[in-house]
Amino acid sequence: MKVTAVVLAAGQGTRMKSDLPKVLHPLCGKPMIWHVLEALKKVSTEKPVVVVGHGAEQVKDYVADSAVCVEQEPQLGTAHAALQAEAIVKGKTDYVIITYADMPLLPADVFQRLIETQRVNPGPLTLVTVIAEDPRGFGRIVRNARGTVEAIVEEYVAAPEQLAIKELNVGAYCFKSDWLWDALHRIEKNPQKGEYYLTDIVELAVKENLPVQAVVHEDLIETIGINTRIHLAEAEAAMRERINRQHMLNGVTMMDPVSTYIEASVMIGKDTVILPNTYIQGKTVIGEHCSIGPNSHIRDSQIGNGCKVFMSVMEGAVLEDEVDMGPFARLRSGAHLGKHVHMGNFGEVKDSYLAEGVKMGHFSYIGNATIGANTNIGAGTITCNYDGEKKNPTEIGEDVFIGSDTMLVAPLKIGDGAKTGAGAVVTKNVAPETLVVGMPARAIKKVERKVKKH
Ligand code: UD1
Ligand code: CA
Repeated sequence: MKVTAVVLAAGQGTRMKSDLPKVLHPLCGKPMIWHVLEALKKVSTEKPVVVVGHGAEQVKDYVADSAVCVEQEPQLGTAHAALQAEAIVKGKTDYVIITYADMPLLPADVFQRLIETQRVNPGPLTLVTVIAEDPRGFGRIVRNARGTVEAIVEEYVAAPEQLAIKELNVGAYCFKSDWLWDALHRIEKNPQKGEYYLTDIVELAVKENLPVQAVVHEDLIETIGINTRIHLAEAEAAMRERINRQHMLNGVTMMDPVSTYIEASVMIGKDTVILPNTYIQGKTVIGEHCSIGPNSHIRDSQIGNGCKVFMSVMEGAVLEDEVDMGPFARLRSGAHLGKHVHMGNFGEVKDSYLAEGVKMGHFSYIGNATIGANTNIGAGTITCNYDGEKKNPTEIGEDVFIGSDTMLVAPLKIGDGAKTGAGAVVTKNVAPETLVVGMPARAIKKVERKVKKH
C-alpha cells in the first residue's frame, strides 16, 4: 500500500505580517513545515510533495530534498493548490494525504488513524475533525440526521445555525488516489472569494452517494492552525509542553517546565535536572546526572555525565564528564573541557582544549589554546591570541601554575611544571619547570614540578 502526502504551503500568510514565509516561522527551533514533514514521514511510504507559492524560493531551499516541491502560481485556493501535485502523484500511489503546512502540532498518530480509517472506508475520503467551543475560524462539519458527514461549511458563508456547530474541520484528509484527481477538477470556483476550496470536495462525494468518514480527534491543542503570531505563541507553548513532558517521562527532572525552553532536536539523559529559565537548543546532547541552569543558554553543545552548568552560556562546546562550570561562564565554539575541569565565574573559552583537571576559577580568557592536565589558570589570566591580524596559538603544558593576571602573548609555549608570577607578561616560550616573572617575564630560577594525585 502506497501513501503519499501533499502539504499545502503556498498561501501568503498575510495575517502573520512578516517578510518570512509563514511556514518557515520557527516553533521550538524548527520551521513550522519541518514539524509537519516529520509527522508525515512516519506514516507515508513515498516522498512528500510540498506545494509552494509565496516565498517559494526560500521554502524550496529549506525543504531541499526532504520533499518534492511544486509551484502554485497564482494561488487560487486549497483545491487548486492540491491539483498542482497531480502530475507527480496521480497513478503512482494508493492513498493521498492532503494537509496544510500551518498545522505543526498534528502528530503522526492522527495521520495514522486517518489512513487506517480510510483503508476500510468504502467511500473515497476520510477527514480529521475536532470538537471545540472556540471555532477559531475553522470550517464547520455538517452532518445529516444519521450522523454522516455531508459538508464542510467555511465560517464566512455559514448560516447562524451552522456557525453554532462545534465540530470543526482540522485540515487533514486521506483520499483514494484514483478518485481524488478527477474530483479536484470538478470543484467549482467559490463565487464569493473566487477561489477553489478543497473543502467542497466533501459535497462532491456526498452527491455521488459515497460515504465520507471522519476521525474525531480529542486533543484540541494539537489541531491549532497558525494564522497569526498569537497562534504561533500558543503553538510554541503547546509544543514546548509536549517536548518537556517527553523528557520528564524519560527521567529528566524539571523544576519548572513552563520556564524551560528545549528545542525539538535536543537529547537529555536520565537523572539530569534542568533548572528554570534555561534554554537548550540545536543539536545539543546532555548526559546523565547533570545539573543544568538556572538561567543558562546552551546551543549545539555536548555535555557528558555528571556535569554542572550553573548560570552559564555555551555554544558549540564540549564538556566531558564531571565538569563544573559557572556561575557566569561562557564557552564559545570549539571550547572543549576535559574531565573534572572546573571553570568558575567570568571565564571565557573559545577554540581551546582544557585537559583533565584544569582549574580556571575566575576572570580569564582562553582562546586558541591547549592546556595540559591539572594546570591551574590564575584569576585574570589572558591568552593574548590576536595580534591585530591573525589568531595565534598558546600551548600550556601539564601541572603548570599560571599566576594571577598573567598575559600570555601568543604564539607561545609554556613547558610542563612551569610557573608564572602574578602580573607576568610572557612573550617568550617558557622551559619546563621554570618560574618566570615580570614584564616582559624572564627566567629567574628552576622550580619543582608538582604532580597532583587524585
Ligand atoms: C482551512 C480550511 C478550513 C479549516 C482550516 C484549518 C479550506 C478552504 N479551508 O482554512 O476548513 O478549518 O484550514 O486550519 O481549505 N494554501 C495554498 N494555496 C492556496 C491557498 C492556501 O497552498 O491557494 C495553503 C496555505 O499556505 C495554508 C493552507 O493551504 O498552509 C490553508 O490555507 P489557509 O488560508 O490558512 O486556510 P484557512 O482559512 O485556515
Ligand atoms: Ca490556516
